[in-house]
Amino acid sequence: MNIRTINEIGDIRGKYILLRDDFNVQIVDGRITDAFRIEQSMPTIRKLQAAGARIAICAHLGRPGGKRDEKFTLAPIAEYMKVPLIPDCLDKGFLPAMRDGDIVLLENVRFYAAEEENDPEFARQLASGFDIYVNDAFAVSHRAHASTVGVTKFLPSYAGELLASEIAALTRVMKNPARPLLGLVSGAKIKSKIAVIKAFGKLCDKVICAGGIGTSILVAMGARNLAMDADNLEKYDADTNAEIFEIMKEFGDKIILPVEKGVGPAWEKDAPRTDKMMNDILPGDVIMDEGPASVAEYERAIDDAKTIVWNGTVGMAEWQPTWSVGTFALARYVAARTRAGKLESIVGGGDTVAALEATDTAKDMTYVSTGGGAFLEFLEGRELPGIVALKK
Ligand code: 3PG
Repeated sequence: MNIRTINEIGDIRGKYILLRDDFNVQIVDGRITDAFRIEQSMPTIRKLQAAGARIAICAHLGRPGGKRDEKFTLAPIAEYMKVPLIPDCLDKGFLPAMRDGDIVLLENVRFYAAEEENDPEFARQLASGFDIYVNDAFAVSHRAHASTVGVTKFLPSYAGELLASEIAALTRVMKNPARPLLGLVSGAKIKSKIAVIKAFGKLCDKVICAGGIGTSILVAMGARNLAMDADNLEKYDADTNAEIFEIMKEFGDKIILPVEKGVGPAWEKDAPRTDKMMNDILPGDVIMDEGPASVAEYERAIDDAKTIVWNGTVGMAEWQPTWSVGTFALARYVAARTRAGKLESIVGGGDTVAALEATDTAKDMTYVSTGGGAFLEFLEGRELPGIVALKK
C-alpha cells in the first residue's frame, strides 16, 4: 500500500503537528519498566523537532474505559521524556506559547470515550489548532479510533518513520522472505491465536506452536493426560476444537508441537520445577514452560530456517528464573543465529519483546516490532485502519 510519509511534507518550520505515538508501556509504581516503544518513537520526534515543528504528542495508556482515571495518567511518560504534560488532550490553550522545536505530551486520549468510538466531533476538536497530523503509532493502528483514523479527515496526514519502517519490515517478510521461513507462535490462549496460526500456516514453511497453544492442540488431538486446567488453558470449546482440526488437516505437516514441558504442583512463580515428556505429564501437573527436549526441537527448526517470525513467549517468562528457561534459551539461540548471519529474525509482541530485553538480545534481532495486536493483524494480511487512512 502506498502511503504518505513525513518525507513528503515539505517545510514544517513553525508548523503545529499532532503526532500520534503508541506509548502504551508497562508502568509499575509510577515507573516505566519497558521504554522500548518510547525509544523507538524518538527518531521521528527528533526529526520533526530538528526541522522546527511544534509538536503535540497524542497517546494512550491502558484501557481507562473512557473516563479520567489517574491510574492511567501519562505523567510518568512526560517525566521520562522531560516534556510538559497538557492535562486535557482537548485543551489547546498551550499552542500560542509554543516555539519552533517545542514538544508537549497530551494527557491520555482514552480519558474520552469518544476516542475509541471514533466520534467525528471529538476527532475535529482533537485536530483543531494543528496544521499536520503524523501517525507513528504502528502498535495501535489496528484500532479505528479518533486519534488514528478520525483526525485524518481534518488534517493533511502522514506516516512517521517508525510506522513506515514497521510496514516495510513486515511487508518484506510476507512478500519476499528468505526461505525457509519459520513461524513461532506461542501464548496461553489458543482462541486469540487461531487466525495467526492459519496465516502462518499459509505464509511459512514450518510453524512452531508452543506454550499453551501447543498444549491445547495436543489436547484437541487426544492427549487427555494434559488436564484442561493444567496450563492456564481455555476450557473445552467445540468451535475452537473444530478450528484446531481444520488447522491440523491443512497444515499438520508443517506444524511443530511441544514434546516436553516444565511442570510444577501449582500455578505459582516459586513452584518447584520438573521437566516431563508429554506422555508422562499427569492431570495434576501444571504446565508453565517448555522443557529442554522441546527447546532442542525448536532449535533444530531454527537451524533449518533462514527467517523466523516470532510472537509469544513459550512459558511464564515473567516468572524468572524458574519458568523463563525455555523462552530465554530460545531468545539467546535466535540472537546467536542472527548474529552469525544465518538467520533473519522478526519478533513482535509485548511479552516477547520484554523477554528479549531481559536477555539483552533485542539488539541482535533483525527487526523487533513495537506492535502486539497490530503485528499479528498485519501478518494475518488484514488492512490496519490507521494505515489505510494514510493511503495516497
Ligand atoms: C497495544 O498495546 O497493543 C496497543 O497500544 C493497543 O492497545 P489496546 O489493545 O488496548 O487497543
